[in-house]
Amino acid sequence: MSLNAFLQERLEARAKSGHCRHLTIVQDLVDLSSNDFLGFSRCHRAVDTPLYGSTGSRLLTGNSRHAEELEQKIAAFHKAEAGLIFNSGYTANLGLISTVAKPSDTVVFDIHCHASMQDGIRLSKAWALPFRHQDLDHLENRLRQSKGNLFICVESIYSCDGSKAPLNEIVSLCKRYGAQLIVDEAHATGLFGLDGQGLCAQLEHPPFARLYTFSKALGAFGAIVVGSSLLRKYLINFCRPFIYTTALPYPNLHAIENGYRRLLTADPEREIIRELVAYFTEKVRLSGLPFLPSETQIHCLLLPGVRNVQEISHFLGTQGLDVRPLTSPTVARGQERLRVCLHAYNKKDEIDLLFTALEKGMPHA
Ligand SMILES: Cc1ncc(COP(=O)(O)O)c(C=O)c1O
Repeated sequence: MSLNAFLQERLEARAKSGHCRHLTIVQDLVDLSSNDFLGFSRCHRAVDTPLYGSTGSRLLTGNSRHAEELEQKIAAFHKAEAGLIFNSGYTANLGLISTVAKPSDTVVFDIHCHASMQDGIRLSKAWALPFRHQDLDHLENRLRQSKGNLFICVESIYSCDGSKAPLNEIVSLCKRYGAQLIVDEAHATGLFGLDGQGLCAQLEHPPFARLYTFSKALGAFGAIVVGSSLLRKYLINFCRPFIYTTALPYPNLHAIENGYRRLLTADPEREIIRELVAYFTEKVRLSGLPFLPSETQIHCLLLPGVRNVQEISHFLGTQGLDVRPLTSPTVARGQERLRVCLHAYNKKDEIDLLFTALEKGMPHA
């Protein structure tokens, strides 16, 4: 049975039993149901919102026209049919994957996928098959071994090294093996694609599901899963990390909306980042330091050994630079690295300072 037929069948069974869940918007009624027990949500409210806190889960009192309209707008921005907001990127990945994949299915995932994807796979109890980072041959090998519905999980830009996934090739593999693609666009959001819509919007076949976090380039908090209306309805009914938690507060929805509005005029910032990336890449070439290849805002210097990478991070701190180490289990032992994230507010002389400090502070220097 196809995945969509399975989702549809479960929804229909639930509807028949009279237990189908729908988001509703309640207005102008005496509140005898929210969790705003002391009324604080009303006191903290922003000028143009009815409340501060959302006062309940989306299926109870936490839904609003604002949240639903925002979901539609964001889904349209990313060229998707529908979207569902989650309280964080972590819970979005966890909820999405654990809800759509069954124990009889197979999830093939890049070994460097974020912990939230990997935890979602674990929770689903599906057969979990990791493939070597960005290795399409290994991915195809894994696809040949699969059983049940087949999912592929990748990031469009990997947080652990800044590399871009070969999405067109992965989409072709999905077609060949009948796999459903799930793409985490956390680090592409706001930076890549038209107006920062990410790397998936231009694909020939849209992925089954995509995730955009609001906590990175958008400077807010929360995340959205975009895909079909059927997927949205399914998640509303079966996704426990969506169902059993209080919805995001109103100021947060405003921050998200504001972030998306600003993306439309953020070409100058994206251009600054592109220039900084080019400048950084040239500095890497001149320095000969073992940075991993990257054309994105994330650049990693491989420096095996927890102690080495912690010491250099500390040393950079004494030079006025905040550069954090990635250590196990975020990356494998022996793959420890320093991660440099470039921002539109960074300056070329800050990059110069970093390379001068690295020359001084590197263990071999
Ligand atoms: C690739 C990726 N996905 C998901 C997340 C989780 O997002 P959030 O911080 O919104 O929970 C992160 C955050 O580090 C991430 O890097």
